[in-house]
Amino acid sequence: MLFDSHAHINDERFDFDREKVCKQIEDSQMSYVMDVGFDFESSIKAIEDAKKYPWCYAAVGCHPHDTKNMDEEMLLLFKGLAKKPKVKAIGEIGLDYHYDNSEREDQKYWFRRQLQLALELKMPIIIHDREANDDVLRILKEEGVFAPVRLQCFPKKPSGLPDARLLLHCYSGSRELAEQYVKLGATLSIAGPITYKNARKTVEVVEAIDLEHLLIETDSPYLTPVPFRGKRNQPTFVEHTAAKIAEIKGMSYETVAEITCKNAKRFFDIEG
Ligand code: NI
Repeated sequence: MLFDSHAHINDERFDFDREKVCKQIEDSQMSYVMDVGFDFESSIKAIEDAKKYPWCYAAVGCHPHDTKNMDEEMLLLFKGLAKKPKVKAIGEIGLDYHYDNSEREDQKYWFRRQLQLALELKMPIIIHDREANDDVLRILKEEGVFAPVRLQCFPKKPSGLPDARLLLHCYSGSRELAEQYVKLGATLSIAGPITYKNARKTVEVVEAIDLEHLLIETDSPYLTPVPFRGKRNQPTFVEHTAAKIAEIKGMSYETVAEITCKNAKRFFDIEG
């Protein structure tokens, strides 16, 4: 029982052997994969994958790298995609000040517009935040992602904390910021870099945050965990992230796999 909460099976780096990778997912102990769009084309491909594979679900949205190509008409098209079967989230959206592939003003504008869309449709949100912690949190607050009217749309988490259905994908921030986010109602997703030697900051986050607020992911084809670092990443490798979290928290692998899978199903509203 494993749920890879963030993968790009839709990426062109899987074009030559997608069938094989998907067969490996079916032959493994994986239960679900969230196939995440990063632009219009990849969002359509994610929906096609979800149609084809019972274990696959889709998220649609425009990554900050690609906001230079966004316009209002495309936002309307995204709205149409968001209503298709098995589309469970808007994402990945956010800000990336590391690469700055799109102008920061463009990134911010389309981040806000896509947040507004997710709020209107009452859908979960997947956030990409690279070196933009302050602006991401400020914009999320300003757009009302943690406002009572949003929180009322979703049942509380089992512990009674609010659930804003907001996922910080591949969380790499501080423990303090993680605690602040969890209090507001966010969920954090831990990716392959937790297995790297220099992961001390994220190890601290995993130690401090209750498993209830954590999901696991690969971000395939990127961020390959140890022992496959250097190769292309794929959803089945998510087991190494689960194993590392189990080690950090002193829990069994089975518990981490089961709880993070349950968390992801609740977060994305997947039944069964
Ligand atoms: Ni991604």
